[in-house]
Amino acid sequence: MSTFQAPKGTYDLIPPKSGVTLAVREAIAAPLKNSGYGYIETPGFENVELFSRGVGESTDIVSKEMYAFETKGGTKLALRPEGTASVLRAALQANLHKLGNLPVKLWYSGSYYRYERPQAGRYRHFSQVGAEAIGAEDPALDAELIILADQAYRSLGLRQFRILLNSLGDKECRPVYRDALQGFLRALELDEDTRRRIEINPLRILDDKRDAVQKQLVGAPMLRDYLCDACKAYHEEVRELLTAAGVTYEDDEKLVRGLDYYTRTTFEFVHDGLGSQSAVGGGGRYDGLSEMIGGPALPSVGWALGVDRTVLALEAEGIELELPATTSVFAVPLGDEARRVLFALVTELRRAGVAADFSYGGKGLKGAMKSANRSGARYTLVAGERDLAEGVVQLKDMESGEQTPVALVDAVNAIRERLA
Ligand code: HAM
Repeated sequence: MSTFQAPKGTYDLIPPKSGVTLAVREAIAAPLKNSGYGYIETPGFENVELFSRGVGESTDIVSKEMYAFETKGGTKLALRPEGTASVLRAALQANLHKLGNLPVKLWYSGSYYRYERPQAGRYRHFSQVGAEAIGAEDPALDAELIILADQAYRSLGLRQFRILLNSLGDKECRPVYRDALQGFLRALELDEDTRRRIEINPLRILDDKRDAVQKQLVGAPMLRDYLCDACKAYHEEVRELLTAAGVTYEDDEKLVRGLDYYTRTTFEFVHDGLGSQSAVGGGGRYDGLSEMIGGPALPSVGWALGVDRTVLALEAEGIELELPATTSVFAVPLGDEARRVLFALVTELRRAGVAADFSYGGKGLKGAMKSANRSGARYTLVAGERDLAEGVVQLKDMESGEQTPVALVDAVNAIRERLA
C-alpha cells in the first residue's frame, strides 16, 4: 500500500466493479439520448456566485458544503456541487435558447463535490447523470422527464424505488404560503438554528427529520391549500400524464428538496434498501433560475440521478448486471516466435473489432492459462513452435475445454465466425 489514500468521503472505482458504474451511467443516459436530449459538458468549477445565486445562499449546499476557493488571480470559484446552474449558464452563454427551438433538451454526466459528513451513500465526490429541458412550460415535459427516469431505473432491473411528487407553487402563491407557514412556525418551541431557518428557508423545516420537530408540525399550513389555480391545474395534468403512462408515484406534500430554485413540480426517487441516504435521484421545475443568474425568463425542468446510490440500490436488490465480457479472445504464446506471431494476430483481431488480450510478461504456460481464465475470454489462442511449423494456432473453447487447430492465415475469420 502507498502512503497515500483516497481523501475522506471519496473512493476509487476499480475493475470489475467500475464496469457496473459505467453500465449504470449508460442505462440512465439511454432513454435520454432516445428522446431528443443532446450531450453537454461543462467545467468542473464555476464562478462561486453562479451557485450562491442559483442554488441559494440559504441552502446547506451553498452555505456549508461548497468547495469554494480563490485562484492565484483572485477569481472566486467553486467546485460544482450540482449540474443545473452550470448547464443553464452554458446554454445561455451559447445562446441555445435563441435558436428558435425550445425547449433546449440537454443531458450530462459527471463528478460533483459537496463537503458533507461522509456516510454510506453520502460522499464528498459523487457522480450524477442529469437532464435539463430549458425554455418551455408544459406539464408533458415534466412528465416526460419523470417517465424517462422511471424507464432508466426499470431497465436496470430496479423495482424497490418509489417516486415522490409535489408542487411547490410559483412566485404568486408560494410567498403567501411562506408567510402563513412562518406565522405558524414562530409559535413553536424550536432550537436557535431552526428558528433562524424560519426566516431564511421555512419550507425546509417541513423536511426536518427529528421527531420532536415533526410532532410540532401537526396542523401546519400545507402548501396544497395555498396553490393558485394555475399551479393546481398544472400539477393535476402532470399527475394525469404520469398515471396514463403507467408510472406510479406518491403525493408527498412535505417534499421540499435542498435547492432553492424549484417552482411547481418537484420529485424525488427514493429507494427503500438504502437506509438514511435513500434519495437516488431528484429534480423539478425551476422557472425562475434563468432570471436569477441574469438570463431571460426561461421556464425549465430537469433531474439528476445519483450514480453512486443507484449502484448501491442494485446491490440492495441483489441485481447483477450482465456486463459484456471485456475480452473475447486471450492469446498465450509459447516461445519467442509464437510471441511475435500471436501479438500480430491479436492486433489484427482488435482491428477487426474482436475484444482480444495477450499474455504479457513472459509467463509460463500455467501462469498464462491462469490469466486467460481470469480474463473471462471465451476462447484462448495457444501456439508453440510445432503449431507455427504447421501453420496453425490452437483455439481452445474455454466453456467446453475443446481445443481445435485453425489455420493461421484464416484465424481472424474463423474466430469471428465462432463469436458471431
Ligand atoms: P440533488 O437532489 O441535490 O439534486 O442531487 C441529485 C442526486 O444526486 C441525489 O438524489 C443523490 O442520489 C445524488 N447525490 C447528491 N449528493 C450526494 C452525495 N453527497 N453523495 C452521493 N450522492 C449524492 C440536484 O443536484 C439537482 N441539480 C437536480 C436537478 C436537475 N434539478 C433540476 N435539474
